Amino acid sequence: MIKKNVLIFGSTGQIGRHLIRKLTKNNYKVICQTRNSHKAIFLKTSGSIGYIEIKEANIFDISKLEELIDSSDICVNLIGILYQDKINTFKRIHSDFPEILAKICEKKNKNLIHISALGLENIKDSDYAKSKILGENRIRQILKTATIIKPSVVFSVDDSFTTKFMGMLSLFPAFPLYYKGSTLFTPIHATDIADLIYFVIKNNLLAKDIEAIGTKEISFKEILKILAKSINKQRLFIPLPYPLARLSASILQLFPKPLLTIDQLKLLKYNNIKTKGGMTNFDIGCPSKIDFEEGVKKYSYNWTEGGQYSKGSEK
Ligand SMILES: NC(=O)c1ccc[n+]([C@@H]2O[C@H](COP(=O)([O-])OP(=O)(O)OC[C@H]3O[C@@H](n4cnc5c(N)ncnc54)[C@H](OP(=O)(O)O)[C@@H]3O)[C@@H](O)[C@H]2O)c1
Repeated sequence: MIKKNVLIFGSTGQIGRHLIRKLTKNNYKVICQTRNSHKAIFLKTSGSIGYIEIKEANIFDISKLEELIDSSDICVNLIGILYQDKINTFKRIHSDFPEILAKICEKKNKNLIHISALGLENIKDSDYAKSKILGENRIRQILKTATIIKPSVVFSVDDSFTTKFMGMLSLFPAFPLYYKGSTLFTPIHATDIADLIYFVIKNNLLAKDIEAIGTKEISFKEILKILAKSINKQRLFIPLPYPLARLSASILQLFPKPLLTIDQLKLLKYNNIKTKGGMTNFDIGCPSKIDFEEGVKKYSYNWTEGGQYSKGSEK
């Protein structure tokens, strides 16, 4: 029996795909918003018949949003971008859209779970960070009951973080270290973040700010070392002075899907770990279970020569 209808904005993304599986497995029906229903058709295989509905919608079409929100019990916002263009600016996607959602949810008496990002509060030199914080503040002003989840970097076989790095590490003998590789992260597995969102829905946790972190803190350099080891490669890690790093980012950001932008380079300077006094998924009784190194080992064979059954990759 269907327990609740959950409307997911940004359902086709990394977290969305894991969340849909978790919810449908537990008898929640998901209404999946996307900009392109043809491209999102693969979502149909993520759960039983009758538990997944795909809805194409422009996220700035208010009457469409109202119609979608009317048809659901709770709304989850997973829409986010890593780089901006003239139309899809950080402000539009991370601040204006959440504000619209909050207003409609308030009007319709529905609740909102909004996914922001960890550790951005004091970052003043990144447009990404400022837009995410502005989005959080606008939601807080409008919809007191909203719960905001702030994840550290999320990893899984279908991420654009470990998989991108393993792809590069498998090809190049040396890898640049920004800020000497000392920035700290708390990577969380996509399954653990899906479990957390499910936990919030199931227990009807309202008006919370939850920092979503993995099982341990690791530096950027340690992350790269783990990834290189997991694909059986010995690589040289070379600290890149900031002017050179900035120059490379200024070139890379000209590509359509940039590997690195200047804004991302700025963000990489700041630790991405639990904040002082912040409440985490561990504090609310939903701890992460998947260790970074162990989790990566489960899929890193995709980047080894010969794949899963080659020497050194057997599980
Ligand atoms: N993954 C991480 O490491 C990480 C870490 C911290 C915070 N977060 C945050 O968590 C949320 C979900 O992350 P994710 O990794 O699942 O993201 P993702 O894989 O990049 O997916 C983003 C989703 O946003 C939608 N989207 C992108 N641009 C859009 C636009 N202009 N208009 C409407 N929809 C648009 C896409 O939907 P369609 O293309 O189907 O329309 C897609 O489903 C984001 O807010 C992200 O900032 C993620």
